[in-house]
Amino acid sequence: MEKYVELLDRQNIPHHVAMIMDGNGRWAKKRGMPRLFGHRQGVETVEKIVRACVKLGVKQLSLYAFSTENWKRPQDEVSGLMRLLVEYFDKKTDQLNEEGVKIRVIGNVGALSKVAQQSIFNAEEKTKNNDVLGLNIAINYGGRDEIVQAVSRIARGVQEGTIAPDEINEEMVGQYLYTKGIPDPDLMIRTGGEKRISNFLIWQLSYAELWFTDVYWPDFDIETLAQAIYAYQNRERRFGGLSG
Ligand code: IPE
Ligand code: IPE
Ligand code: MG
Repeated sequence: MEKYVELLDRQNIPHHVAMIMDGNGRWAKKRGMPRLFGHRQGVETVEKIVRACVKLGVKQLSLYAFSTENWKRPQDEVSGLMRLLVEYFDKKTDQLNEEGVKIRVIGNVGALSKVAQQSIFNAEEKTKNNDVLGLNIAINYGGRDEIVQAVSRIARGVQEGTIAPDEINEEMVGQYLYTKGIPDPDLMIRTGGEKRISNFLIWQLSYAELWFTDVYWPDFDIETLAQAIYAYQNRERRFGGLSG
């Protein structure tokens, strides 16, 4: 069978791919290992997928790493996840920088530990002038939380007289989201078998093509990614209009 990577139309690679990296816990459980073992393996997949996106010509990659609802998990899993994220930035930023990756963290970063905030700041600062791939990592991210903070800041502008209510439109709201300046995702992939959005980029995904796979995140690879992009390339995006 021909590989999906070779079947892709290189002129029609989605500009922005968003991913809900799900299934780490079940992947580990299947092997009789603790959930954190799955998360650690998940970081390896991130490494591979960042490279795959560069290779295929994806320009923006948004990864859901920790949701505003994930605080409900046991304390040791939450702290383990946070440790892994900090470790990722501290150990991988230099390499990513050399590859031209621009790191941006989206979410309520102000509520994270000072240590995490410092690593995130360093990673973003160091890579801010890169343009090969935008890597947007969602940490303490919730789509509803993102919209609420935007509404609150816009309301403050109205109160202070710098924004007129009639001026508020979709473009302005977009300017107040964590993803400011990043075009909306074209393709959203969720691994791990669940078919839901789980509060990820709910504003930005309005017209994204959605693709779901039962593959657990630690097993996701460039070939599965290419399969998703292949499916994307065979869909018709109408944006509410009629077939062209
Ligand atoms: C990773 O997968 C997603 C994160 C919240 C880090 P899960 O930890 O949700 O794994 P499953 O869904 O329990 O298998
Ligand atoms: C979504 O996965 C969040 C991340 C991948 C970070 P969850 O495992 O938290 O989602 P639900 O609980 O199955 O909806
Ligand atoms: Mg899950």
